[in-house]
Amino acid sequence: MDYSQILGKTAQKIPPSGIRKFFSVVEDIPDAISLGVGEPDFVTPWEIRDAAIKSVQKGYTAYTSNSGLKPLRDGISDYLSSRFGVRCDSADIIVTIGASEAIDVTLRALLDAGDEVIVPDPSFVSYSPVITLAGGVAVPLACRAENGFKPTAEELERAVTERTKAVILPFPNNPTGTVLDKGELNALCNVIKKHNLIAVSDEIYAELTYSGKHVSAAAIEGMQERTVLISGFSKAFAMTGWRIGYVCAPREIISVMLKIHQYAIMCAPTAAQYAALAALTTGKANGYAAVEEMKEKYDMRRRYIVNELNSMGLACPDPAGAFYAFPSVRSLGITGEEFAEKLLKSKHVAVVPGDAFGAAGKYHVRMSYATGMNSLREALKRIREFVGVATKQSHT
Ligand SMILES: Cc1ncc(COP(=O)(O)O)c(C=O)c1O
Repeated sequence: MDYSQILGKTAQKIPPSGIRKFFSVVEDIPDAISLGVGEPDFVTPWEIRDAAIKSVQKGYTAYTSNSGLKPLRDGISDYLSSRFGVRCDSADIIVTIGASEAIDVTLRALLDAGDEVIVPDPSFVSYSPVITLAGGVAVPLACRAENGFKPTAEELERAVTERTKAVILPFPNNPTGTVLDKGELNALCNVIKKHNLIAVSDEIYAELTYSGKHVSAAAIEGMQERTVLISGFSKAFAMTGWRIGYVCAPREIISVMLKIHQYAIMCAPTAAQYAALAALTTGKANGYAAVEEMKEKYDMRRRYIVNELNSMGLACPDPAGAFYAFPSVRSLGITGEEFAEKLLKSKHVAVVPGDAFGAAGKYHVRMSYATGMNSLREALKRIREFVGVATKQSHT
């Protein structure tokens, strides 16, 4: 049977995620170290797990309301306001299956066929495919390494056309770790306001900034009415497997999103919602101690990996947020893809080629430092050996 005639043309054309490409190979190498995955190596803090267990013991096993448990939405509203100065009524929040579902529902709610969405390049792998699946057109906004991968207002202005509907604001950025300060974000928001666009602000790494506090697009003057704020519990609370995120947007947008979420999902898993609620209530009571503790560890690893990479000749500016280093491998005269393939083959260390996140990442690789210090040390030792050999080869 020729399935290519049966499957949808749009879905068939979407490339598989460049992050997953090396995973099957890694599984077959017993001493492999993976710096490829973007997830915390910490186990979810106990009080969060305990709350989920208790919810099951109490028999809370039914659907919740489509938009999620009211106390959880109240908690998210309070959290956004106290941590980031974002005012968002709990009626304007939907609890989703990870930030991933929030991205999908947002774009399906916003886009008609042919609508353009500007996507900073490099950025998280799912934006462009999801835009395509929603019938839209992803317009990459190439960000320059020399500028710390920060898009400028002028560059954004040049990317806007009559078909532009939305701009993705992916800060702190995966894979580059780029964070925008208030002035830089303001400049982009002025372009967004000028052209009457929607900002889709993915703030899932908001808790993980290493110098200064995260500035939310929704907190910029005049932006709340045109911002869809996406976030979740996966990264800051080490809860990737619980699949719990949320989206907060103006009521008119949320009500359309809720229809899609109702039909496609019904509601986020109930036990995971109780876990998320505990993450917020215990966090509020103890100053988000678990988040701060994990962040401190990431910061230590961040400084270690950045120093190591620079000292072996791979230029790696300080990532100000998230938990990824994004060094350039251009000095070796090879692309990120070649680097990743050869490194895995010869030294059994997995990293992700930068172009998995967009063409602007061609001469970079992403290394996650959400990896225990022992593995990180061993990985960096092997990378140093690999770079030593590759440097000699590039000079002969
Ligand atoms: C920028 C960004 N947004 C969203 C997600 C998806 O997160 P979730 O686990 O909440 O679906 C990720 C996961 O890597 C991410 O890096």
